[in-house]
Amino acid sequence: MSDVVLQSIVKRYDAMTAVDHVSLTIGEGELVALLGPSGCGKTTTLRMVGGFIPVTEGRILVGGRDLTHLPPNKRNMGFGFQNYALFPHMSVAENVAFGLEMRKLPKAEIAAKVKTALDRVKLSHLAERLPKQLSGGQQQRVALARALVIEPDVLLLDEPLSNLDAQLRHEMKTEIRTLQQQLGITTIFVTHDQDEALSVADRVVLMRAGKIEQQGSPDDLFGRPASRFAAEFMGVTNLLPGELAGVGRFRLASGEEVRVHPVGVGGDLSLALRPERLALNADEPDHNALPAVVDLATYRGLVIDYRVATASGLVLIARRPSPAVGGPAPLKPGQPVRVSWHPDAGTLVPA
Ligand SMILES: Nc1ncnc2c1ncn2[C@@H]1O[C@H](COP(=O)(O)OP(=O)(O)O)[C@@H](O)[C@H]1O
Ligand SMILES: [Mg+2]
Repeated sequence: MSDVVLQSIVKRYDAMTAVDHVSLTIGEGELVALLGPSGCGKTTTLRMVGGFIPVTEGRILVGGRDLTHLPPNKRNMGFGFQNYALFPHMSVAENVAFGLEMRKLPKAEIAAKVKTALDRVKLSHLAERLPKQLSGGQQQRVALARALVIEPDVLLLDEPLSNLDAQLRHEMKTEIRTLQQQLGITTIFVTHDQDEALSVADRVVLMRAGKIEQQGSPDDLFGRPASRFAAEFMGVTNLLPGELAGVGRFRLASGEEVRVHPVGVGGDLSLALRPERLALNADEPDHNALPAVVDLATYRGLVIDYRVATASGLVLIARRPSPAVGGPAPLKPGQPVRVSWHPDAGTLVPA
């Protein structure tokens, strides 16, 4: 059993609290993405789990065993860090063998394990090369093989895709997920990229200023952000401040009153609306509808984003399929439109 339990861990640097009472359980074989903006404490959290940074407070348990004060080499964890730091003077095979040599395994066993690890990341044919003779993506895969070869209980990955171009990033992401599932390794995957987190993780943990802001399945985070911060971070472009004006009625700060899904919360709220949920010139009788004017059209390949403005000063982004994928004819700036959405399409979040 290799579940990982973080019990209220804290990291302080003098007056600065980098990680502030984070409690989290990562189930056996689960891949949890730690997501959040730069500086929110992701790396610090991961490095405490790995034993590279001592915790100020709290405990770390793996499979029920308290590892809080053990050095990294006593934790049986595999690491893949931002700059993958391969040993430049060692071949690919020697790099991968390093952790096994440290454990003083028999030569034949090391050779067999290195071969399996390199096969897994499809690099057996490059075993004798030096790191500088490899592309960035290949180096990244060597780092992954090196992390996996020790058969870790837990895999810790810190922005493992950050140095790759878009195509390689996608391939590596798929490869990491496939291997992680095949091997059933409990994994913590740190990233600042919401798309990456949503596509690799079983569960996404969103951090903000050293604390957990929200956690849940990718669909929870994407579809039901619980705060304005979470909504913005998950790519909701329309966040309209206002206040409840009755059951299922919301008055926007710009003056319009719209219908919303009835909620039991009060206070300062924002209506979060994904750009995909806004229709332009659709004829749906039970939708909220506002007259507006197209102000900017941004072509994005699969979609076109339209910035539209109402006479009251409300600015919204609506997204439609582009003509290239069967979408309607483009709209021009200056064109009057009717922007509409279903009352259930929005989420009210604390402002
Ligand atoms: N050695 C250190 N001394 C002082 N502050 C640090 C140290 N390491 C990290 N921090 C601070 O802790 C916060 C969290 O950093 P980090 O965990 O690296 O964030 P992330 O990985 O989410 O970008 C940041 O404000 C950072 O400046
Ligand atoms: Mg970091």
